[in-house]
Amino acid sequence: MTIAWRDKVAVVTGGSRGIGRHIALQLAKAGLKVAVSYRGNETAAQETEALIRQQGAESLLLQLDVSQIANAQVLIDQVLQTWGRVDVVVNNAGIARDTLLLRMKDSDWTEVIQTDLTGVFAVTRASMRPMMKQRFGRIVNIASIAGLMGNVGQANYAAAKAGVIGFTRSVAREMASRNITVNAVAPGLIETDLTHDMSEDALQALVKQVPLGRLGRPDEVADAVWYLINADYVTGQTLVVDGGLVMD
Ligand code: NAI
Repeated sequence: MTIAWRDKVAVVTGGSRGIGRHIALQLAKAGLKVAVSYRGNETAAQETEALIRQQGAESLLLQLDVSQIANAQVLIDQVLQTWGRVDVVVNNAGIARDTLLLRMKDSDWTEVIQTDLTGVFAVTRASMRPMMKQRFGRIVNIASIAGLMGNVGQANYAAAKAGVIGFTRSVAREMASRNITVNAVAPGLIETDLTHDMSEDALQALVKQVPLGRLGRPDEVADAVWYLINADYVTGQTLVVDGGLVMD
């Protein structure tokens, strides 16, 4: 089925910059109205909003912290008040607090789990009722290859992202009969602020391990998200976008 996207409504958490911004723009290009949530960087969020409007799409900016469970309902209620429906949710907001386990502080653990896993749970749960009423919904959760292969210094992040993959599969099973699909995208090394801050040597060492021999781009992650949003017969899957680093 080709879905008529014009005037459908999407929510992208953490859409102010990086991968989330590219996802928001991809959706805007297809004619969806796009709500973007972000934590703090107002300037970046306004830039994203301007780019969405350049595509001729409506947008809504919402500053809230997804690590606080109650904010998820606030986010979805605002979107429903503004546009009356919610068709697509991309749970993209995420943080890392990398450090070896022996040095990991309680706050390194809880902040990452609260943002990267609990945030996904809360926003997804808040979206379920309107999607069930519509008998249509598309959820895409941004995981990471760290959740599949683990990574030194990322026990907290890998646990959260592996949790996202298990959560995705469970909710996909619960919601399939309502025509709601739930999938994940697991990016590898993607060119964002994160990789810009790394030393050239460290970066080159990592790139050497990637079969396709380069970093990925945020728009390549957005393409995978867009595929899953359009796929009627795909649910509970994790699409890996990593240049071939992880092969099962
Ligand atoms: P980024 O740091 O450029 O952007 C993160 C976004 O999340 C920002 O909009 C920020 O406002 C938002 N955010 C963070 N904490 C939040 C909170 N508590 N409440 C609300 N919003 C919050 O990150 P990037 O690189 O674009 O990552 C996006 C997603 O992709 C994350 O889930 C990340 O874990 C994942 N990812 C990124 C990879 C990379 O190489 N950049 C690789 C694998 C996964």
